[in-house]
Amino acid sequence: MAKKETITSLQQAKGERKLVMITAYDALFASLFKESVDMILVGDSLNMSFLGEPDTLSATLDQMIYHTRAVCNGAPESFVICDMPFGTMNTPDEALANCVEVFRRTRADAVKIEGGAERADLVRHLTRNAIPVMGHVGLKPQSVRAEGGYKVQGRDEKSIERVLQDAAAIEEAGAFALVIEGVTPTLAALVTRECDIPVIGIGAGKETDGQVLVWSDMLGFFEAFKPRFVKHYMNGAVAVKEAVGKYAEEVKNGLFPAEEHCYK
Ligand code: KIV
Repeated sequence: MAKKETITSLQQAKGERKLVMITAYDALFASLFKESVDMILVGDSLNMSFLGEPDTLSATLDQMIYHTRAVCNGAPESFVICDMPFGTMNTPDEALANCVEVFRRTRADAVKIEGGAERADLVRHLTRNAIPVMGHVGLKPQSVRAEGGYKVQGRDEKSIERVLQDAAAIEEAGAFALVIEGVTPTLAALVTRECDIPVIGIGAGKETDGQVLVWSDMLGFFEAFKPRFVKHYMNGAVAVKEAVGKYAEEVKNGLFPAEEHCYK
């Protein structure tokens, strides 16, 4: 089994090897993913793909703690990051109390916090209190209602400047790594060059220090829509529907259970 990543090993990877992150929301899938990835993110995207909500904003701290615990149980040797949900970090002290709650009730290694320069003081407060923070800049799904949609960043000078400032402020506040989402590859490459910490991209081209994808997207389970940046590595929805359809058919026509499935 590969050795568990640490903040030091993840930071040493910059410029040496690409980092691979995937989301997971439960013990079963975390245990299937753990051998292939460097980090597992318990993303608040679970609110959409597993709860069926239209966005991530209604995810709660208890929900994130429940799923993070499950992932840590399924992948005890993996570096696990808990996404801090919307509305749980209105002040630096509230953020600290909620991150401490995450660390008390799960074995997560770090938290992820969406936000740019406006969150720098809060991130500094956390890192000074021994909470490892992964930042998240560029397109921030928790700002979807404020922004009026999911808007790709970095298409004009103002947006490029803002994302660069956000990344610099979060790095300066002590974050050990950054996610950069939904930006042009040129901007992602610029941020990756400017930052000394690892920059993990999603919908950000290939010049970042690593990539992250939502597991139910990349395995083709999420059918509602396929963003441009997602690649399907299998057709999960079709495979599941076929298998469950076959099971139903065999129950109905008496082929299941067969002799070998019966106790003697
Ligand atoms: O919630 C999530 O899954 C995320 C990733 C998209 C980075 O934040």
